[in-house]
Amino acid sequence: MKIAIPKERREHEKRVAATPDTVKKLVALGATVIVESGAGVSAAISDVAFKDAGAEIASDAASALKDADVVFKVQGPMDDEIALIKEGAMLVSTLAPTQSRDMIKALAERKVLACAMELMPRITRAQSMDVLSSQSNLAGYKSVLDATDEFGRAMPMMMTAAGTLAPARVFVLGAGVAGLQAIATARRLGAIVSATDVRSVAKEQVESLGATFVMVETDDAEDGETAAGYAKEMSDDYKEKQARLVREHLAKQDIAICTALIPGRAAPTLIDDDMVKSMKQGSVIVDLAVEAGGNCTMSKPGEVVDVDGVKIVGHHNWPSRIAVDASFLYAKNLLNFITPLIDAESGDLNIDWEDEIIQGVALTRDGEIVHPLLTEG
Ligand code: NAI
Repeated sequence: MKIAIPKERREHEKRVAATPDTVKKLVALGATVIVESGAGVSAAISDVAFKDAGAEIASDAASALKDADVVFKVQGPMDDEIALIKEGAMLVSTLAPTQSRDMIKALAERKVLACAMELMPRITRAQSMDVLSSQSNLAGYKSVLDATDEFGRAMPMMMTAAGTLAPARVFVLGAGVAGLQAIATARRLGAIVSATDVRSVAKEQVESLGATFVMVETDDAEDGETAAGYAKEMSDDYKEKQARLVREHLAKQDIAICTALIPGRAAPTLIDDDMVKSMKQGSVIVDLAVEAGGNCTMSKPGEVVDVDGVKIVGHHNWPSRIAVDASFLYAKNLLNFITPLIDAESGDLNIDWEDEIIQGVALTRDGEIVHPLLTEG
């Protein structure tokens, strides 16, 4: 069985879908691994390192993809790459399915079995394959470092002979995987941290990291968690109360880290123009949700906006900003996904279509789009 790792071609993408460590393990499972030359360069992995781990190096995408039974990627392929994938091959990648319907259609027409890793069910057995968690965790960490970069002050309290510096106040909006890591990172740097979320279960997690939980008090104990553990869209009444709470709290903060997302919908607006203007000069807002529409009305994808001395950071693709570790964990997620699918005796793929993991991630099969996310509604 041949597994290909082409170089990522999309803008702002520095990650790679394999590392020398995962190549070694794939080779040990009986696979032939072909890496496109330069695929690892922006994640600090040379062709030589891949070669030493047992991979073959292909000079271009066409020769890497030719005859490959499985293709590992970080982001979905461009049109010209789809044409290079062998009919019947399996593609394992993040694919942003609802935003990339034309790409999924083209993959189905090519009879590719496209697996969207961001749809991995959040069950215990699949935790080691969960790319959303591995990448959000690093994004949350990096968001705090990006905030400190724009912040003209120190994070911890410092008592010096020349005077005492007050600790920074950091407010994290959305306490999921990214938010919890942002809290932990800001705490390690010595900031005073608070956080909010619509899911009341987040309170205990936030407090266990040494931060204060700021929560909307609701009469009807409205909780924002779905059965799947994700946030839901809240009522207008809740949104009003939340806006009041955020407005009051934000004016006293130095840094806001926005991480709130609602699966399948635009990110909720949590910081409006007036709230930005109410912040102190020198404050920083980092909007990790910027590419999903943003939690802050004034953030712009790929830009650092300055509004009367308040900086709003909206970098593209946060995991890619920490590409070495993000590639390391992403490649491990893919290895953990493919390993149980490889038949120990024949070394070929053996897919159990009844498995909830396969049903969760498979978008296409035998030329058809099969995932309910794309076929229903
Ligand atoms: P996410 O990336 O979809 O959202 C980030 C956070 O934003 C969530 O905590 C969400 O509640 C919050 N949020 C959404 N709308 C909001 C609003 N209007 N105001 C404030 N906060 C808002 O979520 P993520 O980080 O992927 O995690 C979702 C859940 O899944 C968490 O409970 C997490 O612990 C759980 N999880 C379970 C895993 C497993 O069992 N394998 C693995 C990873 C996460």
